[in-house]
Amino acid sequence: MEIDRPTALLGGLSASQFMRRHWQKKPLLIRQAVPGMVPLIAREELFTLAGCDEVESRFIRHGKAGWSLRHGPLARKSLPSPKQAAWTLLVQGVDLHDQGVHELLQQFRFVPDARLDDLMISYASDGGGVGPHFDSYDVFLLQVHGQRRWSIGKQRDLRLEPGLPLKILAHFEPEQTYVLDPGDMLYLPPRYAHDGVAVGGDCMTYSIGLRAPAAAPLGADLLARIAEAQAEALQDAPSAAAVHYRDPAQPAVAGPAEMPAALQAFANEAVLAALRDPDAVARALGESMTEPKPTVWFEQGDVPAGEMHGVSLDRRTRMLYDARHLYINGESFRASGRDARLMRRLADRRSLAARDLATASEDARALLEDWCEAGWAHAE
Ligand code: SIN
Ligand code: CO
Repeated sequence: MEIDRPTALLGGLSASQFMRRHWQKKPLLIRQAVPGMVPLIAREELFTLAGCDEVESRFIRHGKAGWSLRHGPLARKSLPSPKQAAWTLLVQGVDLHDQGVHELLQQFRFVPDARLDDLMISYASDGGGVGPHFDSYDVFLLQVHGQRRWSIGKQRDLRLEPGLPLKILAHFEPEQTYVLDPGDMLYLPPRYAHDGVAVGGDCMTYSIGLRAPAAAPLGADLLARIAEAQAEALQDAPSAAAVHYRDPAQPAVAGPAEMPAALQAFANEAVLAALRDPDAVARALGESMTEPKPTVWFEQGDVPAGEMHGVSLDRRTRMLYDARHLYINGESFRASGRDARLMRRLADRRSLAARDLATASEDARALLEDWCEAGWAHAE
């Protein structure tokens, strides 16, 4: 991606300018970010998707009885007629199911893949919406069909309406209002309050959603992964090499149940030693950030017979790299030299041409074949 070239997608800013001026800082309204935008998924197809077990969906309605929320799978016949007012259907992760939607999401790869989450499609009947709220993540809201009126505000008072199934701001104070037509897009940084209401029926909005791990759960996940890797390494290590606690200076004790402070210090050091390996946290992070969502599964593929003329990653595959590793769908591999350069190219471009493959080592080819067999990649 040409990160320094002005682009319509960002209202004539380059990706670099957008990241400097707006990213995580302030909203940006972009008229005709995607000129000629039409729905990539028809209304009926979206409704069908909402009924699938492996698709995350929500149905929200606002009526006389207040707000109601139902989680999917949502049977087609349980959805009201599009002519009925004030309901909305949200379908998460559509990029995993539709190639066109996946390709649209690729336009946002000026943000690191590790930060990109998914593309959610919302369908709303006249007056439908999810109410005034804020999100913990950045979002690009691309209008695709019909119109939506967005009211937005910085909002200091983040208190929520009590007792509702949805997070609705109790005292929303909108500062700007924009009506978005198909092709228009609104970028909002995290915690910026917003309320999008469909103007007329058949309103479809695509939310390009970001993700940002929260420190405490990320720490817990990484510690569990490090512990698992450590346990595996121990199984291979000879027990003669084990360093046991020694206490030649231990005096006799009157309170035998008291934990020796030296043993606590020894334990502390044992834990820190496991974390001191500079690769341990990096590896756990790479595996964690490429872990497929629980609803994702891959169809077993065919091992390419004979020459591979190219290879491309499956749209569900998450692949990242750092200076020493490749991470793919929750697994890590050490890589260096020419193979590492090749695999990083695959991760960045999501495909390799025949001429790229010509330089691959036997090991790299074998790995690519494994990934094709697992359905993580496809040979051409
Ligand atoms: C929607 O598109 O209706 C909801 C998206 C959002 O407010 O984040
Ligand atoms: Co929102």
